[in-house]
Amino acid sequence: MFARLEAEFASRLGRECLYVPSNRFGLFIALRYWMKPGQRLLMSPLSADEILFVVLAAGLRPVIAPISARNGNIDVSAVADLRFDGVLTTHLYGLPDDVVALARLCAERGIPLVEDAAHALHTTVAGVPVGTNGIAAVFSLSKHAGAAQGGMIAMASPEDRAALEELRGRWLSPRYAVAEFAGLVKAVARNTVVGTGLAYYTWRLAEALNLNERRNGYRIALRRDVLASRLAGTPHPGMAVLDPWIHADNHNYRMRQGSLAEGYALRRMQVADDQREQRLRGVRRLAGLKNIAPAVRDHLDQPLFRVPLLVQDRDHAAARLRRLGVITGHIYAPPFDDYAPGLTEPSPSPDAARWWARHVLPVDPLLADRAWPVLATLSAPPEAG
Ligand SMILES: Cc1ncc(COP(=O)(O)O)c(C=O)c1O
Repeated sequence: MFARLEAEFASRLGRECLYVPSNRFGLFIALRYWMKPGQRLLMSPLSADEILFVVLAAGLRPVIAPISARNGNIDVSAVADLRFDGVLTTHLYGLPDDVVALARLCAERGIPLVEDAAHALHTTVAGVPVGTNGIAAVFSLSKHAGAAQGGMIAMASPEDRAALEELRGRWLSPRYAVAEFAGLVKAVARNTVVGTGLAYYTWRLAEALNLNERRNGYRIALRRDVLASRLAGTPHPGMAVLDPWIHADNHNYRMRQGSLAEGYALRRMQVADDQREQRLRGVRRLAGLKNIAPAVRDHLDQPLFRVPLLVQDRDHAAARLRRLGVITGHIYAPPFDDYAPGLTEPSPSPDAARWWARHVLPVDPLLADRAWPVLATLSAPPEAG
């Protein structure tokens, strides 16, 4: 299954790679494989909704880490007193977590480090690709590359492949060619209108037709009572039991894929490589704005997935950008411990995550020129100092 795509990733990363139908699916099987139900997982409060539910589906207790307001990632200097049995990084928007310090911490404690590299396809740290520091990393093909869906697990030891492959087989759902084809058509349409004036009208049409995932603000409805009943009485609920939460924005996240999907993903990887210079130019232009997240300026050589600005009245700014055809996604608010209290071990110092979640405006660097007339007018949030 997907041998060409696996070989492509293996040659980039120098690691054994296993295809999965989505990043969330890959994270689930990685966490099931390297951790035991009931264990505690240190994770960022700022990530996609489905990642919290994948962690719960694996039977783990999310321990929410303090974050750094420089980059929105785990503040490694603030986790020494926390109790946890494994770590999940985020590499938010492609800005790398302090993976060297996290890897050292995990080695000292003898616990696994799993990297969520969904946003970090092109990120390197000291010349080494992100996704090669932990016991495993999981990439997402629908981010930089804009493939319909898909993910890749890169593992430290090739000996783990057979067991992961067996787990993959156990959790895959059957392939429906029509669903796969519809997903491809949607991805082609999205990739065609992005960066054009049509993007705004396409977004409005999708809203009117109810094609976008329903959300309360930026998160899907928690439906705490139903969720609690599904979590009760089983040490590891699994993906099927939490499917209504895990399937946010991609109802086919578990579906076996065919060769058409592989061909399109390979083509889109090439497009992402071709866009690398344009992405870098966008990062450097946006880094000149006064409201840029400070860590961006430390990574001007990185073709980030999104460039985080920290602005006052973020939602109004996002609405103005939409009218220019720049649709803002990947806002993760509120932080997980405020979103799902009781289901997480709350962060001992949540203020930075709350501030970041309220003010972050992630901008696609490929659309920097189109977004500029709005971005150049935005004010810094009061607390930014
Ligand atoms: C940080 C992060 N991790 C994981 C995912 C899930 O990726 P996929 O859609 O491939 O499951 C997303 C999706 O937006 C994400 O933003």
